[in-house]
Amino acid sequence: MKLLQKIPFQIISQDTNLDLKFIRIYRWTPSNQTQPKFRIYPIHTKTCGPMILDALIKIKDEQDSSLVFRRSCREGICGSCAMNINGINTLACLHPVKTNAKIITIYPLPHMHVLKDLVPDLSNFYAQYKYIKPWLVNKTSQKHEYLQSEKDRFELNGVYECILCACCSSSCPSYWWNYDKYLGPAILLQAYRWLCDSRDTSTKERLRLLDGKSKLFKCHTIMNCSRTCPKSLNPGKAITAIKHSINYS
Ligand code: SF4
Ligand code: F3S
Ligand code: FES
Repeated sequence: MKLLQKIPFQIISQDTNLDLKFIRIYRWTPSNQTQPKFRIYPIHTKTCGPMILDALIKIKDEQDSSLVFRRSCREGICGSCAMNINGINTLACLHPVKTNAKIITIYPLPHMHVLKDLVPDLSNFYAQYKYIKPWLVNKTSQKHEYLQSEKDRFELNGVYECILCACCSSSCPSYWWNYDKYLGPAILLQAYRWLCDSRDTSTKERLRLLDGKSKLFKCHTIMNCSRTCPKSLNPGKAITAIKHSINYS
């Protein structure tokens, strides 16, 4: 472990073995009252799976079992492996190890409290998710099954695919500075998902929940959210549609 820390930068820059990469990982245990630091781990891409998540699992198995990160599905569905890889918020299981970069730097999602290493505290994020009532409300009838026309179902495309990975919210400067007031792009996209659902009858109440200075209108259309979404969704557009509905309701 100590040897790995001492790899001089010259060796990294002069190395001609294209198969060898150096994964530079942010390490911190806040409860130990120590300072954050980086650890560098060499990885041979020929003996590793294709994605950054494979590299992290290999590092944890073979080099440093103390490394902590979240993962579950390993195929871009659960949203747990969101982290910042070479400056981009993305999913480790969808981001390839084989890129032009010799050194791959990995941080936890930015501007989130860190629990340990690459694991952010998502308590506030989930509390905000709960606030928007992310379930179907239909006051007109009590059924086991609510049918929807093909056309109405089509309206949910581009929103229902959100996996709540928080890559977008943690890329948004408005959310960085107002995370306790502003709901952020991920939660607002989810709110929009229920506003667009033809089976839901609580549109007015839902819009009332989002109205006010901060919860929605702290979005200044910066659009980092839509640029970074690993599922190619457009939360910025959804937020604009909600603002429009509130202004004209
Ligand atoms: Fe993740 Fe995209 Fe959903 Fe944001 S909109 S939480 S980036 S899947
Ligand atoms: Fe932020 Fe996206 Fe709005 S980056 S300011 S939520 S358009
Ligand atoms: Fe599920 Fe990456 S492990 S999205």
